[in-house]
Amino acid sequence: MATLNFLTGNAGKLAEAQTLLSPLGWEIQSFEIDGEIPDVIEPQSDNLTNVALAKIAQGVELLASQNRLEESLLVEDSGLFIDALPEFPGVYSAQVLQSIGCDGILRLLDAERSAHFLTVAVLWTGEVVEVFIGRCDGQIAMESRGDGGFGYDPIFIPLAGDDDRTFAEMTHEEKSACSHRGRALRALYDYLNENGA
Ligand code: IMP
Repeated sequence: MATLNFLTGNAGKLAEAQTLLSPLGWEIQSFEIDGEIPDVIEPQSDNLTNVALAKIAQGVELLASQNRLEESLLVEDSGLFIDALPEFPGVYSAQVLQSIGCDGILRLLDAERSAHFLTVAVLWTGEVVEVFIGRCDGQIAMESRGDGGFGYDPIFIPLAGDDDRTFAEMTHEEKSACSHRGRALRALYDYLNENGA
């Protein structure tokens, strides 16, 4: 089974990548150095791709410093974009979740509740960098629902779902089948297959 290092401190993201890619023959492991997930600096940017590219550049430097440059490495950056609040929380999704939480978002909204998630996944193949983007359209629920998932999952209802369950009310498999991360990682998987990785 081929191995892909995933540089993330987010256990939810790691679990979703494992759920999606393990059955397809990829072992997804947390990228660690001496048993620790290395810290990377997230630059201030109004663009998820720029943030993800800055992270992969640091990750590749770390691989080089460990003489592991031939290994593959994945980073990703995601954000929630709410139509009624242009570009918000967007690239500030992590800070906004920490400060006002899902309940704070619910308090800001009236009838207009459409939103989407974006994921920018960036892969170092051992030779080149490739970018994969996934989007999931949906709406913000009227109240938080569900215990699964992480982050904004309890307040996001994907349009592609068969019902009005939030991501947090779905299994990993159900979320991945329609989520932004699922779409980006399936594109990544197709690339790996086509390129004989
Ligand atoms: P990050 O910068 O990509 O780690 O994510 C930004 C923020 O969005 C973090 O607070 C995450 O918890 C949240 N987030 C990222 N992906 C998801 C998701 O799939 N569902 C819900 N929240 C997410």
